[in-house]
Amino acid sequence: MNSSVIKSSNGEHNLANYESSASEFDWSQVEKQFSWYNTGKVNIAYEAIDRHAESGNKDKIALYYSDAKRDEKYSYQEMKEASDKAGRVLQDIGVSKGDRVFIFMPRSPELYFALLGTLKLGAIAGPLFEAFMEGAVKDRLEDSGAKVLVTTPELVGRVPVDELPELQKLVLVGENIEEDEQKVDFLTRFQQASPSLDIEWVDREDGMILHYTSGSTGKPKGVLHVHNAMIQHYQTAKWVLDLKDEDVYWCTADPGWVTGTSYGIFAPWLAGVTNVIRGGRFSPDDWYQTLERYKVTVWYSAPTAFRMLMGAGDELLKKYDLSSLRHVLSVGEPLNPEVIRWGMDAMNHRIHDTWWMTETGAMLICNYPSMDIKPGSMGKPIPGVEAAIVDDEGKVLPPNSMGNLAIKKGWPSMMKTIWNRPEKFNSYFLGGDWYVSGDSAYMDEEGYFWFQGRIDDVIMTAGERVGPFEIESKLLEHPAVAEAGVIGKPDEVRGEIIKAFISLRDGYEENEELQEEIRSFVKKELAGHAAPREIEFRDSLPKTRSGKIMRRVLKAWELDLPTGDLSTMEK
Ligand code: PRX
Repeated sequence: MNSSVIKSSNGEHNLANYESSASEFDWSQVEKQFSWYNTGKVNIAYEAIDRHAESGNKDKIALYYSDAKRDEKYSYQEMKEASDKAGRVLQDIGVSKGDRVFIFMPRSPELYFALLGTLKLGAIAGPLFEAFMEGAVKDRLEDSGAKVLVTTPELVGRVPVDELPELQKLVLVGENIEEDEQKVDFLTRFQQASPSLDIEWVDREDGMILHYTSGSTGKPKGVLHVHNAMIQHYQTAKWVLDLKDEDVYWCTADPGWVTGTSYGIFAPWLAGVTNVIRGGRFSPDDWYQTLERYKVTVWYSAPTAFRMLMGAGDELLKKYDLSSLRHVLSVGEPLNPEVIRWGMDAMNHRIHDTWWMTETGAMLICNYPSMDIKPGSMGKPIPGVEAAIVDDEGKVLPPNSMGNLAIKKGWPSMMKTIWNRPEKFNSYFLGGDWYVSGDSAYMDEEGYFWFQGRIDDVIMTAGERVGPFEIESKLLEHPAVAEAGVIGKPDEVRGEIIKAFISLRDGYEENEELQEEIRSFVKKELAGHAAPREIEFRDSLPKTRSGKIMRRVLKAWELDLPTGDLSTMEK
């Protein structure tokens, strides 16, 4: 195994000292970096933006934003003023501490202003991925009891306003908006707003951001994070992203997902670096151009994107000058050794895998710069984090045993609760102290962790986490569908693709048109990325006696594997 180790490139922070004593790191050392250390009253948006504007960095570029139509830059001072103005607009329509303000729009500077403005008021921001369709939008706004939604004229049609009694205001970011009882014209009010705002100082455990994510059962759940998470965002920005003052950093994730907020907003701005946001869709040309144009030094992306770049060929890559790059990282799915080798050959960079989840709020297991990489391993827990492989009773297993990847309670960015569902929050823990991730893994003798798969039926497709239940429920709403079971099918580029097994109601005929119709039904109601790429019709689906579809059997069918114990199956 050692022959394939890629030696450390050393970063500014040599964490080797911590390696044998992860639990000795004291997070309160990090707190002392922040202005709130003495008062205990805090606001993450102040620490991320205003603090730098006030401390001699006001003219430093905080944000380079571009897409097909816009090309802009904002200094820390300009970001401070813009987020104050957005905060004013929201305050004027009644937003105050603890309110849920959802933001449903494509990436644009206004999205970031509105999100920071929301936080400055002590309200809770809820970012929604722009591809969500009506059903998905409704579930999230309803569960969170959102009071305000910031969106665009193009997307507002997907918001079933009449079915959302708690939603009071629709803030529309676009031209020529006519205001009424509910609609608010963001841009006009923003232009007129005063660039100063009294920040709401909150407790470190007060709610900050709500990200909806999927498990294998039930509707998507709202993972609530609090201001205190900044401690870990900041520290991992230093240790793992290796950010230094002069860095230009690009995280390719959309803020609809946790990577796009924890590491697309908070970590880089808490560290005071220049942050690049590129709007629009993925294309290899566009991405290489973005790296070249902004002279990006630190780049955080995902395996699917790296695999697509790899597939686009090295000729394309050679057309661009990527010499500014210093540090490359990945998250979201297993990073294949093959991709790491491509990174070394084509870019001359080690790609550093990092492991964490929506629920964990920040990175936990990582390949940081001062550490040797074993391709295929997610790395080791960062200092201050204790990870282990435990059995189903919470007993710690010895090295090289497969089991549940678990983290000892107590890292700063841990979720506070599951919105509306405290019992769901409790179900994450085994033996009181171990947070159980739902991933299976093993740890080798040297303390490196190796991802093996999900224990539940959650699907990771192109880095996005999709719950089979949400798709199955939607499929059942289609008039032709009698039963539906959804699984992730391994795929070389996307990690997994969504496959649905369906049995039809009497009177419907299996054919390609019906397949296509069912697929676009899910696309229209939930989101493009949630629609099954493959649909297979079966006369009936395997079920337990209580009527639950056995996804494990569907998976075995798909992979030509033995179906295992079928004793609970309905005969
Ligand atoms: O299965 C693991 C996978 O992504 C899941 C978490 O998904 P989500 O909450 O959407 O957050 C994604 C980004 C923070 C995990 O339970 N996952 C995440 N990182 C890795 C990974 N699988 C393998 N290797 C990783 N580095």
